[in-house]
Amino acid sequence: MEMTAPAAATMTHLSDTGDTAPQVPQTDTDALVMARDIRVLFQRRDAGLLDRSPRFIRAVDGVDVTIRRREVLSIVGESGSGKTTLGRAILGLQPISSGDISFDGAPVTTTSSAAMKRIRRRMQVIFQDPYASLHPRFTIEKILAEPLKIQGIGSASERKERIFELLAQVGLPSSAMRRFPNQFSGGQRQRIAIARALALNPDFIVADEPVSALDVSIQAQILNLLTRLRHERQLSMLVISHDLAVVRHVSDRVAVMYLGRIVETASSAALFSAPAHPYTIALMSAVPRIGNKSAKAQRIVLSGDPPSPMNPPSGCRFHNRCWLRDRLGRPATCATNDPGLTAIGEGHVSACHFAAEAQAQWVAIKDANNRNVS
Ligand SMILES: Nc1ncnc2c1ncn2[C@@H]1O[C@H](COP(=O)(O)OP(=O)(O)O)[C@@H](O)[C@H]1O
Ligand code: SF4
Ligand SMILES: [Mg+2]
Repeated sequence: MEMTAPAAATMTHLSDTGDTAPQVPQTDTDALVMARDIRVLFQRRDAGLLDRSPRFIRAVDGVDVTIRRREVLSIVGESGSGKTTLGRAILGLQPISSGDISFDGAPVTTTSSAAMKRIRRRMQVIFQDPYASLHPRFTIEKILAEPLKIQGIGSASERKERIFELLAQVGLPSSAMRRFPNQFSGGQRQRIAIARALALNPDFIVADEPVSALDVSIQAQILNLLTRLRHERQLSMLVISHDLAVVRHVSDRVAVMYLGRIVETASSAALFSAPAHPYTIALMSAVPRIGNKSAKAQRIVLSGDPPSPMNPPSGCRFHNRCWLRDRLGRPATCATNDPGLTAIGEGHVSACHFAAEAQAQWVAIKDANNRNVS
């Protein structure tokens, strides 16, 4: 289901595309991060003059995200749905084509102004592959001292003391200081990357596929570490993953992303007990820990790859892969009317014309699977 980017593309601004974005007032006082109607369109450089296909890749196509103080929000969706682009935009690392992003009330931009430097220090990121993000020829001491030095924090001995503390917090011995990244396992390297992210005492961490490169047995240890640290340090986090099972126990809320849009958001408890979008149900059904391992278990199989974000389907973007649409006899509205996000419960929204039917189908699938087991 991997999507590939065209050979070359650059970011574009919405003024080039004729789209406009509404300005949404930013009012939620408990919000640390607010992103409103975010669009990130990449201009295709590979499209020839006579090429009639669209000129833009709509990586993020009208997304609202709020992350409250001390909250962990996860974004889940297949590869290519726009999660990383959205995360980078929130960090001010990716220019946006339109929309507004604020952090603690201040606008997030990609500039290097003094205000933005102060914001950047409060935001940190952990990537999927800690090996690629840790300098191979630097000792762990040097890797962890680097952010402190750049910000001019502490004397050499104070920095050393701080590095001891950071290593202890992520469960590594102080002897790790003198070693190099390749002397550690994948899980230990991710611990080092987490220590580096914590070095400047951030308020907010984006963890982009933080355990995808790790063995399943190690994944839980790293997720437990992130959960402990968020409570100890009162962190807000955005966790990005293609795997619903990964985010289940680390998130307060989950947003499900499909083809540049958020299609469902709910508390973690509500999303896993009463999902209300057929795409979410398909992702859940694919997870053995959530679904049922019995051979007779009903599984919703997601057919085919997601369509290209250059040319999203009309109406509901999910309609050409939607199992519920098929079960409902292919109602015309799915292919013609774009379902906006609609509230279906406290803090629970779904972008499906038939959200109630989706929930009912989920209950029926679970009941059938329980009967198969007993
Ligand atoms: N720099 C870029 N130039 C062109 N297309 C890009 C670029 N970055 C991402 N894309 C495209 O944007 C879409 C979303 O990508 P991404 O945000 O990486 O998704 P995810 O993290 O969910 O896998 C994909 O179609 C991807 O190919
Ligand atoms: S609106 Fe129709 S196609 Fe879209 S998710 Fe709902 S049932 Fe499926
Ligand atoms: Mg990604």
